[in-house]
Amino acid sequence: MALAYAPSLETTPVRIAPRYEHFIGGRWVGSTGGETFATVNPANEEVLAQVAAGTADDVDRAVAAARTAYERSWRPMRPADRAKYLYRIARAITERSRELAVLETKDGGKPIKESRDFDVVQAAAHFFYYAGWADKLRYAIHGATDPAPVGVVGSIVPWNFPLLMAAWKLAPALACGNTVVLKPAETTPLTALLLAEICEEADLPPGVVNVVTGDGRTGAALVGHPGVDKIAFTGSTEVGKIIQRTVAGTGKRLTLELGGKAANIVFADAPLDQAVEGVVNGIYFNQGHVCCAGSRLLVQESVHDALVEKLAARIETLRLGDPLDKNTDIGAINSAAQHAKITELVRSGIDEGAVLHEQSCALPARGWYHRASFFTGVSQAHRIAREEIFGPVLAIMTFRTADEAIEKANNTPYGLSAGVWTDKGAKSMYVAQRLRAGVVWCSTFNQFDPSSPFGGYRESGFGREGGVAGLRPYLSA
Ligand code: NAI
Ligand code: MG
Repeated sequence: MALAYAPSLETTPVRIAPRYEHFIGGRWVGSTGGETFATVNPANEEVLAQVAAGTADDVDRAVAAARTAYERSWRPMRPADRAKYLYRIARAITERSRELAVLETKDGGKPIKESRDFDVVQAAAHFFYYAGWADKLRYAIHGATDPAPVGVVGSIVPWNFPLLMAAWKLAPALACGNTVVLKPAETTPLTALLLAEICEEADLPPGVVNVVTGDGRTGAALVGHPGVDKIAFTGSTEVGKIIQRTVAGTGKRLTLELGGKAANIVFADAPLDQAVEGVVNGIYFNQGHVCCAGSRLLVQESVHDALVEKLAARIETLRLGDPLDKNTDIGAINSAAQHAKITELVRSGIDEGAVLHEQSCALPARGWYHRASFFTGVSQAHRIAREEIFGPVLAIMTFRTADEAIEKANNTPYGLSAGVWTDKGAKSMYVAQRLRAGVVWCSTFNQFDPSSPFGGYRESGFGREGGVAGLRPYLSA
């Protein structure tokens, strides 16, 4: 007899205001246009709050506040004192971690166990890590004795890791003495605004961190603002290209962290059960809304059938549903638009002749959800093998030799990440050295640490975040 499933809901209360303003110059101010937009909980399609829609004037005010703070308080401050603020923010993130996790899950749809154990933990870790660098910058760039900050940074972040991407942008920028105007994504602005509140409570000097909410138009105003010295962007390759064109010739600095279509390569000698766990983590983590997701599985021909059988059984055990349920593995798709994009690409896979396998669970009546899925019979020419789906959908292909695996893995305009599963250390190294990807995980996937650099090649962007390398874009030496 099947036992009824009793959900285990996260119950930490979180206060969500009916309306949110921008955080500019240390104050909460409405949009000059007076307009707002709704942010929605994608798990049930309920409106959570109205949020200020940033105009070009709002961006202008925020850039001016950031400039004043840069010149009057943040840049002249002793680096060790700057560090104290970063430590304070890091501790506050830790203290308010449950609240941040619940807010992240409600606004974006990711499973609470991920926002709780990954996003918030990593966000705090980034602030702790870069706080330690603030007074050691002379060691950050070889040969540079006194590297200086760049100035005012415009940071634009996506909706897949809203708080964590804000932390990735803010922590190194602030540690180096820059001030920031942050533009969160329009479907997930709430944790960035809570982070602004944390900055306020940490007594961070007004204007050092400013948050202007809005959509692509607000982002474009920030990119085009002449008072911004550097743009740091994470998002789609399409928008990355637009930004690159806008910035070209202006003297502004730019780093881009864009899309990916990572190969996860499984050799026949790999421990298959472990590899299956790595494949599951690689593609179904955060519903596949991950730029470095292992979305192309390259499996050695002789173990293809065994792996597919194990994977089909494994996805049946993934629990899809309410993201606030602590047992949920697959939460909600971030937005109706993203759901439509995933659905369209899945349709193309079927139409082009690949075979769809999906978990057989029911979908909640409201909200946007997509079952954990994978395709077999995929050819490299299929759209599902070439385009970033950004959903819980894996494309499985085969190879015979290591060199064939490398060739297929590199057959993409992207180059953000890759994975290799083999029992042989030498084979891992042989393959890893030949993969054109910023990060190569060996016998693991989606592992992160603030001390290790992250970033891509080619259409995945340029510049590195994390580690010592992550300081460089924020310093002029
Ligand atoms: P997007 O690139 O439009 O959004 C990312 C951020 O850029 C958001 O804050 C957005 O408001 C801002 N933005 C949009 N247009 C802008 C412009 N012209 N100038 C400055 N900022 C602008 O991504 P979107 O449309 O939400 O997602 C579309 C696809 O992009 C996804 O299906 C996925 O394939 C990919 N994507 C990749 C991400 C990654 O981390 N690599 C993150 C988000 C999306
Ligand atoms: Mg939302």
